[in-house]
Amino acid sequence: MALDIGGDAASPFSRAFDRRVYTAAAVLAGSFLVFVGFAMFIHWPSNREAGYMPQQPIDFSHEMHAGQLQVPCLYCHSNAEVGAAATVPSVSTCMNCHLEVQTKLPDGELKPGIKTLLAHWEDKEPIAWVKVHDLADFVYFDHSRHLASDVTCQDCHGPVEKMVHMKRIDGMKMGFCIECHKQPAMRTDRNGYDYASTTAPIHCSTCHR
Ligand code: HEC
Ligand code: HEC
Ligand code: HEC
Ligand code: HEC
Ligand code: HEC
Repeated sequence: MALDIGGDAASPFSRAFDRRVYTAAAVLAGSFLVFVGFAMFIHWPSNREAGYMPQQPIDFSHEMHAGQLQVPCLYCHSNAEVGAAATVPSVSTCMNCHLEVQTKLPDGELKPGIKTLLAHWEDKEPIAWVKVHDLADFVYFDHSRHLASDVTCQDCHGPVEKMVHMKRIDGMKMGFCIECHKQPAMRTDRNGYDYASTTAPIHCSTCHR
């Protein structure tokens, strides 16, 4: 004699019970997807995207220094010509000028940025500038190699001399590098004719070593 538990032949459980199991599984899967979506949303690296413009400890303006005052980029980022990293200048580079230039507001107070700069100088405390550009560690990049060819700072960083606040103009993903690397650079020969010279390397080990 078969035991009747109210289900059909395929399942030992009742249909109502099966439905509850399916519903529970669907709810679980649904909330898992919502959780993953939320995690991706909050961890999305917006600091790697075009337009990223973090608040800096001092309101340093490239528009004023590199634009209006026309201080050359390499005066402050001299390492770009000789090394992989361009590096940001030390406080003492700022003080080459700001030992003298200490502009006051109409009320006699120092400008807030200058005040913070002088405090760092007196305390011998480096300024904790927030990184704007940051490639993944598995990518090899070298500033000096690029500056030795005809590439300019603006080709990669945009019109920095017009930026009041430093910001990224590009996410700098792989496509950003490859697009330029595979483009034949135009050069001019001794007779004044433009010609396409060799392109920069695009084999993977150029940038992934
Ligand atoms: C008077 C010094 C000075 C001059 C001149 C100057 N910079 Fe800077 N630069 C800084 C300082 C300080 C920072 C860090 C603060 C900031 O990001 O605004 C910086 C940051 C940067 C960054 C972002 C660094 C990062 O964190 O990724 C880039 C790119 C840059 N400069 C490019 C240039 C270019 C291009 C020029 C010339 C057009 C130039 N700079 C001229 C001082 C200078
Ligand atoms: C080549 C000289 C020179 C160098 C180097 C230099 N500055 Fe200046 N800076 C100036 C001059 C000139 C002004 C304009 C003075 C003014 O009107 O306030 C100025 C203005 C400023 C201001 C005031 C902006 C405002 O109007 O609120 C700040 C803040 C400042 N600089 C920070 C820095 C920092 C930080 C560094 C180093 C990374 C630096 N400067 C390097 C010459 C220089
Ligand atoms: C071919 C593209 C390219 C050119 C040209 C270029 N940069 Fe950069 N720059 C980058 C990339 C990519 C990074 C991020 C490097 C990293 O995170 O390792 C960067 C980072 C920086 C930084 C942050 C500090 C560092 O080196 O990590 C500064 C400052 C900077 N560049 C300034 C300059 C200046 C000034 C020039 C011109 C003299 C210049 N760059 C030319 C692509 C370029
Ligand atoms: C605006 C054009 C341009 C952009 C953008 C650019 N490069 Fe280049 N790159 C060049 C040129 C031109 C050379 C060739 C320099 C030479 O060989 O004289 C080069 C050379 C190199 C080299 C040296 C290759 C060798 O022979 O060993 C590396 C590494 C490199 N680039 C990495 C990168 C990375 C990583 C990026 C992106 C973050 C990038 N480049 C973006 C133009 C560019
Ligand atoms: C000119 C420089 C350059 C060359 C050449 C290059 N890459 Fe990349 N690669 C990059 C940069 C820059 C990134 C992005 C790093 C970041 O997100 O900060 C990247 C990212 C990647 C990633 C991670 C996923 C992604 O898209 O962000 C993989 C995988 C990769 N590269 C594989 C390759 C392979 C395979 C080749 C050869 C066919 C190659 N790369 C050639 C510069 C380069």
